[in-house]
Amino acid sequence: KKVVLAYSGGLDTSVILRWLQDQYGCEVVTFTADLGQGEELEPARKKAEMMGIKQIYIDDLREEFVRDYVFPMFRANALYEGTYLLGTSIARPLIAKRQIEIALETGADAVAHGATGKGNDQVRFELSYYALKPDIKIIAPWREWDLTSRTKLIEYAEKHQIPVPKDKRGEAPFSQDANLLHISSEGKILEDPAVPADLDLILSRMVTPESAPDKAEEIAIDFERGNPVAVNGEKLSPAALLTKLNELGGKHGVGCIDIVENRFIGMKSRGVYETPGGTILFAMRRAVESLTLDRGAMHLKDELMPRYAELIYNGFWFSPEREMLQAAIDHASEAVTGRVTAKLYKGNVIVTGRSAPKSLYDADIVTFEEDSVYDQRDAEGFIKLNALRLRLRGRLLGR
Ligand code: ARG
Ligand code: SIN
Repeated sequence: KKVVLAYSGGLDTSVILRWLQDQYGCEVVTFTADLGQGEELEPARKKAEMMGIKQIYIDDLREEFVRDYVFPMFRANALYEGTYLLGTSIARPLIAKRQIEIALETGADAVAHGATGKGNDQVRFELSYYALKPDIKIIAPWREWDLTSRTKLIEYAEKHQIPVPKDKRGEAPFSQDANLLHISSEGKILEDPAVPADLDLILSRMVTPESAPDKAEEIAIDFERGNPVAVNGEKLSPAALLTKLNELGGKHGVGCIDIVENRFIGMKSRGVYETPGGTILFAMRRAVESLTLDRGAMHLKDELMPRYAELIYNGFWFSPEREMLQAAIDHASEAVTGRVTAKLYKGNVIVTGRSAPKSLYDADIVTFEEDSVYDQRDAEGFIKLNALRLRLRGRLLGR
């Protein structure tokens, strides 16, 4: 028996590692992904080695993450419940996919993760595992063990010579998840949704709008077939581009939200999310769409978006319906090529200009000056026929 564990190197997954060895007596393979969370990963290798792990996987998945998960999702302009750019949600299917690949490579029959039984992440991981390997065995220690308090967890760690970082003894004041797209903070001091979050304590990738520079900064992004390819004229790989936008947005206090959201499992939760680069991308992408997408295509895309976002939030990345929607979105995105400029200023992304080689915008038609294609007299019949049922109803109501 062999299990592939999604291992961060932190206290919780280290305890899980030892618990799997004890409880299941199985060989553990660790997998640590670099998704741009901004943490050193070599310490995770050291710790795994110390705990007797022979097969240790540490993979840099940053380019794959942005190219094959973040960008496809942004092509849909996906927002969950009107505000959440799905930073954690979109990372889970990739972690799960790589974990299953490693299970196949190492001949493991099980996978394990460190998500709790109260959250979305367990659902996202496990739906992905099952979709990619229908007969996989899944171990979710948080749903099984009796280490139900921080104290018990730390006792267990100490009993098994697992190093406990000093700041973990006095519990961290909130729980975070980070990758190149976002950093989420939830729980503990954030649990009362009426109490304002202490942003100076929480924010780690950006400043508050109040402490951002007083001077606006103008930036330009080039898009090709729905994806950003260059910032300020410089061509960048997907991960490098998002890193660059994170720096720019972070400096100007762009992209922090404080929300209450509906978890798939049924409860509401409050979170503070930092998505500087993603927020810039979202605003500027729409500006190229405004020139390049036909109205019918754009509006249909907008109608499909909430469904698409919900699928990703709920963990259905590897589902036939997500793939169907993606095909439609990608088809529309073929046209989305152009350049957008915007000002970053104290938490805002203010679009200032947009251009596209295949723009549907026609200055000759929209002009207030005289033109030859559009006959203003046609508008009279257009309005009259549209008004017909309003007039019939108006008459019935005695107006
Ligand atoms: N509530 C957000 C979501 O469901 C963030 C979850 C953060 N996950 C974590 N393990 N801290 O997507
Ligand atoms: C967790 O419970 O593991 C984190 C929160 C979530 O998944 O929604």
